[in-house]
Amino acid sequence: MTGTTRRRLLTGAAGTAGLVAFGAGDVWASRPTRSGTLLTSRAPLPAPFRRPLPIPRVLTPGHSPDHPDADYYEIEQRVGTQQILPGLPTRVWGYEGTMPGPTIVSRRGRRTVVKYTNRLPVPAVTHLHGGHTPAEHDGFPTDFVFPVGTDPAAASMAAMPGMGTVGMPNDPQARTTIGTRVHEYPLDQRAATLWYHDHRMGFTGPGVWRGLLGVHIVTDDEERALRLPAGDRDVPLVLTDRAFDADGSFRYPALDPDPTGVPGVRKAFMNGVLGDVLLVNGAPWPVLEVAPARYRFRVVNASNARRYLLALDPSPAGPVPLVQIGSDGGLLARPYPQAALAVAPAERFDVVVNFSHAKSGQEFVLRNELGSGPTALVMKFRVTGAAPEPSQLPDTLSPHETLDPATAVATRDFLFQNREIGWTINGRPFEPTHPVASARRGDVEIWRFVTDLAHPVHVHLNHFQVVSRQGNRPGPSDAGWKDTVDLSPAEEVAVAIRFDDYAGRFLMHCHNLEHEDMAMMAAITIT
Ligand code: C2O
Ligand code: CU
Ligand code: CU
Repeated sequence: MTGTTRRRLLTGAAGTAGLVAFGAGDVWASRPTRSGTLLTSRAPLPAPFRRPLPIPRVLTPGHSPDHPDADYYEIEQRVGTQQILPGLPTRVWGYEGTMPGPTIVSRRGRRTVVKYTNRLPVPAVTHLHGGHTPAEHDGFPTDFVFPVGTDPAAASMAAMPGMGTVGMPNDPQARTTIGTRVHEYPLDQRAATLWYHDHRMGFTGPGVWRGLLGVHIVTDDEERALRLPAGDRDVPLVLTDRAFDADGSFRYPALDPDPTGVPGVRKAFMNGVLGDVLLVNGAPWPVLEVAPARYRFRVVNASNARRYLLALDPSPAGPVPLVQIGSDGGLLARPYPQAALAVAPAERFDVVVNFSHAKSGQEFVLRNELGSGPTALVMKFRVTGAAPEPSQLPDTLSPHETLDPATAVATRDFLFQNREIGWTINGRPFEPTHPVASARRGDVEIWRFVTDLAHPVHVHLNHFQVVSRQGNRPGPSDAGWKDTVDLSPAEEVAVAIRFDDYAGRFLMHCHNLEHEDMAMMAAITIT
């Protein structure tokens, strides 16, 4: 980052320090809170419940002679046109030109190799969120893939510390390429719902907002043996919120209209950007026709800053309609019925909903209890047709080890805080070459996250288990293996974590994308 950039970024960040509200007591503990500022659309809002829920297409793996033992894919990041609002096409930046991008399904332990080609007008970086991925394939924010055709001299200039590309901090370890990059994913990990998204230094917020996101599912034999709802009764629900201009284009309050210019958003949106149109799989307030049967929904919150509290209205199966079966890191040990599901940015919840007692024609609205007016609605389910062969929901899903806090060899504190200099972790803005922690592989550690305002905290590479909130028991969103944990204002959450997989430089950060872009990230080193 150049001196001027840093100053401008910091100016943009100043002035919110007075917002910091300590001492919000126990009421807040484990309750989701709203954060962010609503950006309203200038286009007329579409009527809810008119569009069928789109299902992102699942890619068919190919083969590459260079990677004979892997499922091989080629994906382009490119500009596309999508019909999101009636009659007003929206330009998106998408994987394969769509939002969400195509879905990848991998089998545990079988390598997946994806060759990305960047045909966008800006550099791109792809990260597989929740993937246990070696550092060189993880998508560190400075590992730019410059667009196809970028002049090598310009690219090396732009990647040079302190030069060229605004928003590029000093990072001699950055691995930049021009045009393409091949990511190798071992995926030696439990069956889980992962997602992939752009992670470009300083521009993850606007990149994801424009559409650079998709679902990546890992399956395994253990999961298959459970005979959970499958096929067209295993449905991804990717939640995003957006605001639109009068011409149908996305609105976003960037500080600098140049998408390679100064990162960050205008001061009023410092705390996160919320849209007034809720999209599921890229369609506003869609409808899914369901059979009277059990469904598995893979809820992915791909929103920049919006939190959801999801509930079905009316409840199709008594007072507890949402049965959580999985979290960020895969299946829970046993089903966990919840009346409402709090979902922070980047979290995933796999839930089973049983519609089998519903009558044909009956409708159920998936509501967002944290919203109001249109943002209180998410989508609708309409029951039609006859019951298929009955499915089951076993009492035991995937028993797994519990990390024992008593075996921890270290306890580290991470303070997520807004300061005069911007959004910080332990008082510092992101510096790629200044790791905030160095952990040894195989060690159990306790990491304590402490917040000023609400922050969804994400750690790359390995999943963790929530040990406590405010010294008390974990909350309803904390079950199982997690890679993102939501914190309310002035809260302390302790997690047990063990990095088992790969040595190298990784990342932890707030997954409110506006906070992230305005420097609330830190490098971590695994040895
Ligand atoms: Cu989903 Cu580092 O991010
Ligand atoms: Cu991640
Ligand atoms: Cu944050």
